[in-house]
Amino acid sequence: MKKIVIANWKMNLGIKESQDLTKKILSGLKKIENLENIEIVISPSFVALPFIKEIIKNFSPPVYLGAQNIFWEEKGSYTGEISPLFLKELGVNFAIIGHSERRINLKEDDEMVHKKVRIALHHQIVPIICIGETFEEREENQTDLILIKQISFALEGFRLTEENKIVIAYEPVWAIGSGQAVEPQQLQHAKFIIKQRLVDLFGFDLVDKCFRIIYGGSVDSKNVKRFVEKKIDGFLIGGSSLNAEEFLKIIEIVSKNF
Ligand code: PGA
Repeated sequence: MKKIVIANWKMNLGIKESQDLTKKILSGLKKIENLENIEIVISPSFVALPFIKEIIKNFSPPVYLGAQNIFWEEKGSYTGEISPLFLKELGVNFAIIGHSERRINLKEDDEMVHKKVRIALHHQIVPIICIGETFEEREENQTDLILIKQISFALEGFRLTEENKIVIAYEPVWAIGSGQAVEPQQLQHAKFIIKQRLVDLFGFDLVDKCFRIIYGGSVDSKNVKRFVEKKIDGFLIGGSSLNAEEFLKIIEIVSKNF
């Protein structure tokens, strides 16, 4: 499977700003070689999605559209929620699910994450499932347990086939937006724990065919190479994706080093 670099713009850019940044990113991408080795996903706010779709639609190699959330029902009285059907209609290919900012600020829990993953898979939208420990949990040596618990709740009970594609984003809560990324050895250990749990649930073969395990949390153009060397499958990038030059540098490093 290809490596993946995902921009998560969170609630930082309006429509015009998102359009401008997308155009800058696309013009920079034209100068980068080996782009066919990676998938690039842009996740703007919901209101900007149709506008960004217009800009990226004919770009080659394709740049994909990601939603920052998804709802677990298709239709009905759910004021303020966004149906997977609407996302499909817009050509959205990926959805971020269970980001710690939603778990913390909107009380998104493991059961909701599970239901969102289910509906995303049902509609061939690739779920980007965010998991990771808080600073306190790390201090109490709970990291492995938290990762195992979050993966189990998100995915237990699913029958996957080779066609199902899932991204697991290891995002330690303390590393997000803090300027302090995880140590590469810690990342390698977390990847091992995640993979082991996935293999327990689905077996080696399906894990290889269906899953990518990526990292997110204060990734920038200076530290990304250290993580690439640990054979991680890609990155979920917040702050550094808001600056076209910085984001393009990251993509260039990833494309050169895989
Ligand atoms: P950050 O955010 O790169 O700004 O730390 C990552 C994320 O929240 O997905």
